[in-house]
Amino acid sequence: MGETTALRVRTVRRYTFQQSTDELEDLRVCIPEVMDSQYGMHVWPSAVVLAQYVWFHREILADKRILELGAGVSLPGVVAAKCGADVTLSDSAELPECLENCRRSCQMNNLHGVKVCGFTWGDISPELLTLPPVDIILGSDVFYEPEDFEDILTTVSFLLEKNPCAQFWTSYQVRSADWSIEDLLHRWDLKCVHIPLKSFGADSANLAGSDLPGRHTVEMIVLTSSNSSDPPI
Ligand SMILES: C[S@@+](CC[C@H](N)C(=O)[O-])C[C@H]1O[C@@H](n2cnc3c(N)ncnc32)[C@H](O)[C@@H]1O
Repeated sequence: MGETTALRVRTVRRYTFQQSTDELEDLRVCIPEVMDSQYGMHVWPSAVVLAQYVWFHREILADKRILELGAGVSLPGVVAAKCGADVTLSDSAELPECLENCRRSCQMNNLHGVKVCGFTWGDISPELLTLPPVDIILGSDVFYEPEDFEDILTTVSFLLEKNPCAQFWTSYQVRSADWSIEDLLHRWDLKCVHIPLKSFGADSANLAGSDLPGRHTVEMIVLTSSNSSDPPI
């Protein structure tokens, strides 16, 4: 049941990621949300798809160093941490409320070792420069405002250059037929592999017990540096 504070409704959504065989092995996570039109306050449909991709790859995640960009309430990063990854969550350094949301999601899921950082896209800050190595970067629905695309790709390209074997796992919602993200990625000299939703069990309107994906068109891609010879996981 929701609770109203200063005209804002706070609620908690539950997600269940299923094992095909044993219900006891299912992963259940709770994500606290604020019903607010601001972007990083609740789970977006793309986040459920990316979280399902993370869950699908759970067996290779133990000890992987993972950074989530534009995490908001952090569903994919929380799932990765629950699967044993060493996770850092980030959102804009200028949006302390979103950084607080990252912390609240960790607390609610008893995740005590997850770090939270303010990384603003396009800003190669001292904190980003001194970030320890990463293996996987996550980002769900970070490609939603075309004016931000160059800034996101500046940050992602910087990280992939610094971590040549790293991969950027990103899901995005198709909102306009007018732009193609893949054209943009070719311009940035990033290798892009399109992952069919069916290949990781995400071709459904209802995922992890949530009807958020609904009828939205969500795409899943993996980006690597053009110098990387590793195939996507
Ligand atoms: C559409 S929301 C997606 C949130 C979350 N990843 C999800 O899918 O549920 C976009 C996220 O990007 C963050 N964001 C917006 N501008 C940003 C910037 N310039 N630098 C870093 N993060 C930013 C927002 O605070 C928000 O959390």
